Amino acid sequence: MQVITAISELRSVIRAARVKQPALQVGFVPTMGFLHEGHASLLKAARDQCELVVLSIFVNPLQFGPNEDFERYPRDEKRDLAIAAEAGTDIVFMPQVAEMYPSPIRTTVSVSEVTRRLCGASRPGHFDGVATVVTKLLNMVQPDYAYFGMKDAQQVAVIEQMVQDLNIPVHIVACPTLREADGLAKSSRNVYLNEEQRAQAVQLSAALRKARSAVEESWRHLTPREVEEQVREEIARAPLADIDYVEVLDYPSLQTIDTFVSSRRVIIAVAVKFGNTRLIDNVVIPIQS
Ligand code: PAJ
Repeated sequence: MQVITAISELRSVIRAARVKQPALQVGFVPTMGFLHEGHASLLKAARDQCELVVLSIFVNPLQFGPNEDFERYPRDEKRDLAIAAEAGTDIVFMPQVAEMYPSPIRTTVSVSEVTRRLCGASRPGHFDGVATVVTKLLNMVQPDYAYFGMKDAQQVAVIEQMVQDLNIPVHIVACPTLREADGLAKSSRNVYLNEEQRAQAVQLSAALRKARSAVEESWRHLTPREVEEQVREEIARAPLADIDYVEVLDYPSLQTIDTFVSSRRVIIAVAVKFGNTRLIDNVVIPIQS
């Protein structure tokens, strides 16, 4: 496994690999590090499909709001490299902020509509930061496939929209959410939770699981608003949970819906704060007759 910090070296190594093996498929997994099994599952998906697997680890300042956790975002380089190697990564790209943003950025990528609700509404500017850094990384790596987790379902919708609108030549692969044994979605931010918060955080996935069954079984007799209310009530059973949003939307358009419509997909998405830690989770459900 090769660890690279300079963009020029990243480009030349990938170029050389492509010259040597013209039919080479390059798979790319962008992350902010503090890797867990969720990230590893993306690397494994890339490993299964591609000859060259590139991982990036970069905590992107552009996607954090002024009062968010950029400064204290968890980091563990040594452990990350061990997990990356174990998952079969060929190249780890871990640039410094000055390498990615040598001067103030004057060009950003902004995706409309799909960014209007959910985290787009509660974290202004967040998805501009994500879309911009992902565009830069895709331009640097020029992968055939790029892997993203459905844990961040809105991010997947944003990236797919961007790749389509800007004709970026890459296939986006959406991978399922990996969870802890009790259902909590794996996240780098879970380490912030104290014991009590961690125990109550299980309520997010429990509420979503229950809502999924209700929608699958009785969507004809339920409205999206009723489902939102049920999920709110379930989450409120955790006294430490401070709900940011609970929304039922069409997926991947992320538009509001007033009824469930056969053969569409819906997302039930939640963001909940436990102390200063904001957790997100979701389920995407095909509406079937
Ligand atoms: P990060 O939060 O590190 O996540 C990197 C990738 O891992 C994302 O595609 C995310 O959806 C996926 N992931 C996280 N937890 C997961 C889980 N439990 N199961 C499956 N996949 C999971 O998302 C980002 O970084 C950044 O916004 C980035 C795209 C790197 C741009 O800076």
